[in-house]
Amino acid sequence: MKRYFIAGNWKMHKTIAEAVALASELKDKLADCKEKLMIAPPFTALQAVSKIVEGSNILLGAQNMGPEESGAHTGEISVLMLKDLGVRVVILGHSERRHTYGENDELINKKVRLALSHKLEVILCVGETLEEREHGMLENVIRRQLSEGLKGVELSALKDVTIAYEPVWAIGTGKTATPEDADAVHAFCRQVIAEMYGKDAAKAIVIQYGGSVKADNAAALMSKENIDGALVGGASLKAEAFVPIAKFR
Ligand code: PGA
Repeated sequence: MKRYFIAGNWKMHKTIAEAVALASELKDKLADCKEKLMIAPPFTALQAVSKIVEGSNILLGAQNMGPEESGAHTGEISVLMLKDLGVRVVILGHSERRHTYGENDELINKKVRLALSHKLEVILCVGETLEEREHGMLENVIRRQLSEGLKGVELSALKDVTIAYEPVWAIGTGKTATPEDADAVHAFCRQVIAEMYGKDAAKAIVIQYGGSVKADNAAALMSKENIDGALVGGASLKAEAFVPIAKFR
């Protein structure tokens, strides 16, 4: 049976105490959940949340990382620091990093390769803006973000990569792509991966959908052939919203 990858991205929310409370509640309420699970608290709460989820079925994720291992990089967080805290997965290329903080494909690719070389799993986010979609550029954008983002990544490392398709216009807006629309883009992502790595790799790669995923739309999205999980923002901030998503079936 397919095992879905349900991930929560807490973004810039939660003090340490709040993060500990939410992580503890999720640990209890999701103990019997068979899906692959991850939560990504803010950096400041990673250490505390790490202690809570250690030994549980919830993987610790980070929302970003710097492109270098160490050195004079004020304000950045290194892959070594994340690993030190027990982080297992890092979200890279999130649309808020791309569009609010100007991260380009080259920088994202540097981070992807660095994370994989340290055996961190990567969630590589891709997705078009409304303007790009309306101008017929969806496929070009997705193809570019995938091929540039994964440049230099060997087939053997691809097992540690999850793709998250997140249409920018659906993030935090309450607008979701229809399951059919999302599935079509997921199928296109698979086609690009097939061109880069072959059919088997394309079939095996996990592709999450992200963008206003909620308890009431999760099952319909997950029922689609090419949708293998969800990257959840707003609805990951409360157990009563996230637990039913993780337990959508
Ligand atoms: P959202 O965010 O669920 O709040 O739309 C998704 C994301 O940014 O990963």
